[in-house]
Amino acid sequence: MNSKNIILKAQNLSKVYQEGVFSTSVLSHLDLEILSGERVAIMGPSGSGKSTLLHLLGGLESPSEGKIWVMGEKLSADANHRARLRARYLGFIYQFHHLLPELTALENTALSAVISGQTIAEGLKMANTLLDRVGLASRRHHKPSELSGGERQRVAIARALANRPLCILADEPTGNLDQKNAENILALLEELHQEFHMCLVIVTHDEKLARKLDRVLVMQDGCWA
Ligand SMILES: Nc1ncnc2c1ncn2[C@@H]1O[C@H](COP(=O)(O)OP(=O)(O)OP(=O)(O)O)[C@@H](O)[C@H]1O
Ligand SMILES: [Mg+2]
Repeated sequence: MNSKNIILKAQNLSKVYQEGVFSTSVLSHLDLEILSGERVAIMGPSGSGKSTLLHLLGGLESPSEGKIWVMGEKLSADANHRARLRARYLGFIYQFHHLLPELTALENTALSAVISGQTIAEGLKMANTLLDRVGLASRRHHKPSELSGGERQRVAIARALANRPLCILADEPTGNLDQKNAENILALLEELHQEFHMCLVIVTHDEKLARKLDRVLVMQDGCWA
């Protein structure tokens, strides 16, 4: 496997939160490689550092120590640079959708495409296609407050796909949904994976889901178990 097939790589990753005199070590010396098209589950007890790791990989925060490369390009300490790389290569699905409340489903989705460099017309076209794809064509002019939990999460998936990412990072994407909605979301992610071949890195507490993926990584106290 040559280096071109490595979509995400982390080396010696550590994160320490400093609050006054108190410091909390959340991740210590983690290494990770995610290969093209791979589907990886990240599991582990609450507080073990899964969300922190995903935030670092997505460039939402920067590590205290260690390095991360996205498509061979190193994430820098500059948040704008990290945001550019995220917009270009990654799709992030938060545990609690994080859609912008004032924007409709269509606008929330199109915005991600526009930030990644598509024109507004292209972004809207992409957003319409994706909302159709996640079964929400008839809800595209609704704001998040006018959607159900499962519908919001489907908009969040459409938004994560709108920049045509090479890798989706999903933090418990079904964590607060009922079983039927959770199964629908997972089936949708699987279908989209088949269709677009992007990698999926899913933080989950669901062992049944994890077993369906290519690889399961388990965290314990900020280290691989
Ligand atoms: N901004 C912060 N400042 C201080 N400590 C933090 C901060 N964010 C997270 N932590 C701590 O880091 C640890 C790991 O948090 P993280 O959210 O990564 O856990 P997790 O594995 O995602 O847990 P869960 O399964 O409950 O979502 C926790 O002990 C948490 O209290
Ligand atoms: Mg978490």
